[in-house]
Amino acid sequence: MDRIRIVGGSKLNGTIPISGAKNAALPLMIAGLLTDETLILDNVPRLADVAQLQRILGNHGVDIMSAGKRPGDHEYQGQTLHISAANIIDTTAPYELVSKMRASFWVIAPLLARMHEAKVSLPGGCAIGTRPVDLLIMALEKLGAELTIDGGYVIAKAPGGLKGAEIDFAKVTVSGTHVALMAATLAKGTTVINNAACEPEIVDVADCLNKMGARISGAGTPTITIEGVAKLNGTRHTVLPDRIETGTYAMAVAMTGGDVQLSGARPELLQSALDVLVEAGATVTPNNDGIRISRNGVGIKPVNVSTAPFPGFPTDLQAQLMALMTTATGSSHITETIFENRFMHVQELARFGARIHLDGETATIDGTAKLRGAPVMATDLRASVSLVIAGLVAEGETMVNRIYHLDRGFERLEEKLSACGATIERISG
Ligand code: UD1
Repeated sequence: MDRIRIVGGSKLNGTIPISGAKNAALPLMIAGLLTDETLILDNVPRLADVAQLQRILGNHGVDIMSAGKRPGDHEYQGQTLHISAANIIDTTAPYELVSKMRASFWVIAPLLARMHEAKVSLPGGCAIGTRPVDLLIMALEKLGAELTIDGGYVIAKAPGGLKGAEIDFAKVTVSGTHVALMAATLAKGTTVINNAACEPEIVDVADCLNKMGARISGAGTPTITIEGVAKLNGTRHTVLPDRIETGTYAMAVAMTGGDVQLSGARPELLQSALDVLVEAGATVTPNNDGIRISRNGVGIKPVNVSTAPFPGFPTDLQAQLMALMTTATGSSHITETIFENRFMHVQELARFGARIHLDGETATIDGTAKLRGAPVMATDLRASVSLVIAGLVAEGETMVNRIYHLDRGFERLEEKLSACGATIERISG
C-alpha cells in the first residue's frame, strides 16, 4: 500500500491550483441518471471516489467518456466527463460497490424519479460516526415512494411516479437535501424542502439541474422549492472549486509560514474558515485569480471554533484546523457539532507530540513549540490530510500510512505541495 513520506521544516511558497469540488462532482455525476441525454461535466477532479462512482454508474448502464487533455490545457486542469444514461439497464446498486463510498447511495433518488424503482445497498464510507440514512428515506417516502429494507438493501418503488410534497428536515443534512432535490425534479407537482442544507455544492447541483430543465428556486437558502417537470435534458456544466481543498492548503500555509496563491479558489465559499485563519495570524488576500495566503514572522494564535452547517465553519476542515492549533501559542478549543466520533486524528496527532484533551464533543489543544515527525496512520479522508499538515512542520521524518483515503479526496496532493517547496513524496508498494 502506498505511503507518503514528509520531512518537515520547509515553508510553502508558490502557487497551488485548486481542483473541482469532490462533493459537487459526485452528486452532479449522479444527476446524469435523471436524463436520457448527455450531461457534460467540466473540471471534474481526478480522484478515487470519482473513479469509483464511474464504476457504479457503469453498472446501471451509464456510458461515461472521459475526454483527454487538449493542447493548451493546464497540467492540473480537471477532466471532462460525458455522461450518457440513455438506457438504464439495471436499477440495483450492489453492496460491493456502494459499501466503498457513502455518496453512491444517492443514486436511489434519480433511479426512483426516472425508473420508478431502485434497489440500493445501505452505504459505507468514512468511519466518522454512524451516519444513518433515515432522513433520506423519510424524504423519499414523503415524495410517495414505498421503501423496505431487506438483506442490507433499501428497496424503493413508486409505481405511478413520485409526487411533490412538503419535506421538513429535523436536522440540516447535505445528503438528504441532495436526494430530495434530485428526486423532486421529476415528481408530479410542487415540492418544498424546509431546513435544507445551504452548502455551495447544493447550489452548484441545483444550477446544473436548472440548466437541464428543472424548475428549482431557493437553493442556497433553507427553503428550496421545486416544480416537477416531465423530462430533463442534457447540458454542460463546470464543477465549482473545492472549498475544502482550498481551506486545507490555506491551513497548511498558515502552519508552515510562507506565501502561496490558491489559484482558482473562491473566497465566498469558505469565508468562515478564512476568518478563523486571519484570527490565527495568517494574512488572507482575495484577488482576481483566487486567494493569496501568507504567514510571515507572526506566531499562530489560538482560536475557539465550533463546526456548523454552511455558512459556519465546515466539519470537513475541523481536523486540519486542529493540526494547525497544535503549534499555537496557547490553548484552543474546537467543538464538533456535525458528526459524532470525528476525532480519530487526535490520537495520531498525539504521536507528533501534540497535546490534545477530549471532553465529549470538544477538544482542547494546548499549543506546543515543536512537533516531532512520526509514523502515523490515516483513518478518514480529512483526518488523513491533518496528519500531512502536521508532518509539514514536524522536525524530522513523518511517514503517513494507509493513504488511500487521501486519494479519495485530494488530487495530486504531494505534487501540489512539493511544487511549493515541501519535502514530500509518495512511496509506492
Ligand atoms: C456531506 C459531505 C461530507 C460533509 C458533510 C457535512 C459529500 C459527499 N459529503 O456528507 O464531506 O462532512 O456533508 O457537511 O457531500 N444524518 C442523519 N440521518 C440522515 C442523514 C444524515 O442523522 O439520514 C446526520 C449525519 O449522521 C450527520 C449529519 O446528519 O451527523 C449531517 O450529515 P449530512 O449533512 O447528510 O452529511 P453527508 O451528506 O453524509
